[in-house]
Amino acid sequence: MTHVRFIGTDGTIREVVAAPGARLLEVAQADGQPLEGTCEGQMACSTCHVIVAADDFDKLPAPTEDEEDMLDLAAGATRTSRLACQIVLRADLDGLTVRIPGEVRNMQGR
Ligand code: FES
Repeated sequence: MTHVRFIGTDGTIREVVAAPGARLLEVAQADGQPLEGTCEGQMACSTCHVIVAADDFDKLPAPTEDEEDMLDLAAGATRTSRLACQIVLRADLDGLTVRIPGEVRNMQGR
């Protein structure tokens, strides 16, 4: 099993357990995180945008050009942003930490 830590829009940290092979978007939605995932993984929206902890970012396979193009359009995207629909959990990603972008970040002026 793979542990995933979500940092919610209000800063609340939640840890969930997911099966390897699960997509991060589905795991986040199952936990009630506010990721719309409007296009259901077709890389035609950026509503599944998450910010990956820097340490974990390097463990992920590199994003495709299509994913990078969508991330360019995502509000508040950072250097370690990814589309959650493109992240497939693996055992070696245990402890993966991602932040859900949201209003709080804007209010804090970061
Ligand atoms: Fe639309 Fe991920 S769900 S890009």
